[in-house]
Amino acid sequence: MKVCVVGSGGREHVFATTLARTAEVVVTPGSPGIEGSISQEALEVEADLYVIGPEAQLVHGLADELRNNNKLVFGPGADGAKLEGSKKWMKDLVENAGVPTARFESFNENQIEEAILFLSTMSSPYVVKTDGLAAGKGVLVTEDYQLAVADIKNKLSGKSFGLAGQRVVIEEGLTGREVSLFAVCDGKKATLIPTAAQDHKRLLDLDNGPNTGGMGCYSPIPSIDSANLAQMMEIAIHPTMDELINSGIDYRGFLYAGFMITADGPKLLEYNVRFGDPEAQAILPRIEGDLAEILLQAAEGDLRQEINISSDSIVTVVCSADGYPISPRKGDLIYGIEAARAIEGATVHFAGVDLDSDGKLITSGGRILNVSGCGPDLHTARQIAYSAAECISWEGMHMRWDIASDFKFV
Ligand code: AMP
Ligand code: GLY
Repeated sequence: MKVCVVGSGGREHVFATTLARTAEVVVTPGSPGIEGSISQEALEVEADLYVIGPEAQLVHGLADELRNNNKLVFGPGADGAKLEGSKKWMKDLVENAGVPTARFESFNENQIEEAILFLSTMSSPYVVKTDGLAAGKGVLVTEDYQLAVADIKNKLSGKSFGLAGQRVVIEEGLTGREVSLFAVCDGKKATLIPTAAQDHKRLLDLDNGPNTGGMGCYSPIPSIDSANLAQMMEIAIHPTMDELINSGIDYRGFLYAGFMITADGPKLLEYNVRFGDPEAQAILPRIEGDLAEILLQAAEGDLRQEINISSDSIVTVVCSADGYPISPRKGDLIYGIEAARAIEGATVHFAGVDLDSDGKLITSGGRILNVSGCGPDLHTARQIAYSAAECISWEGMHMRWDIASDFKFV
């Protein structure tokens, strides 16, 4: 089978390596570090299956375009991708489906005063989200009421996120442990990848600094057992799938569910319509069996294969450029990748790299590399990940030092 992976980040790199266990893989556009990268557009590539990584392409209808050209695609069309493309649409759908989620209201650019009035009825922490896509950076969670007011004004005036921010969702702040689950959907049912992942979204240690696309991740989460996973499927993912079907949406792709485990039980925070990054790096290599076949069957509309996962643990540390997430500095030479990869159990995935005029690897983005450690338990996986990450350097490289340091306390 030949699989075409669309995208260029760390998630697509780990898709490529995992799919390559059983399939021929090309990646478009990929990056200089990703084997099988090609410069053709997905539409020009002949393949048996197309797997689309990034949300923006899904929201903009790439899956539809490929399907209209008789290609077999794993990834939702623009209709289903609204789950991620519009927070208001997603919240309305899950409310209809009876899924437990934070109380919310949405407001447009003509409703700044109403938005602030609604905020004043909420209690801290305050949560203000751009309705549209914002690369994981459009959500403010703060205990500072004045900051939330300023954020509403900036978003609704289009100042901070342009069009994506000209509608906001203001919601009840939930507290608890955050957990990510991933289901493979074939248009008729959702099948869980039976594990959970913990992302670390804030830029700095101890969850300080701004939200990012994710600074590190680990999986599994020891406190989440199979009964917890089954409960989250029952209260959220199955009803959501039913609601999509009732709305006439043939959803074939990943459904990524972010939950907060509150004192009142799990509540849905968000849906994404693709795999998480860096969650993919901590989950996909642990999938047992033939990932290409699983995704092919789902793309065909009939997933029959079971999804099993190894008992290994993976910890992924994201190495980012100075200035990320606001204005990352680019063009710095990257050192130490071979040494990192030589450590047993360590892998390095490329997220934002390029080649300079001498063919040397340089930084070219916000999140640059994902360094993962795989081992029999989280403690070992974490030691491997950090030993490998410490081999790597460039001018201004940043990483969090507390990824997966919380697991023993929960
Ligand atoms: P989202 O893009 O909706 O996932 O939000 C990004 C991050 O903001 C989440 O991963 C949470 O850490 C945080 N967040 C989102 N919604 C809430 C909420 N209602 N209460 C507390 N934190 C939230
Ligand atoms: N790591 C969070 C995301 O992929 O959205």
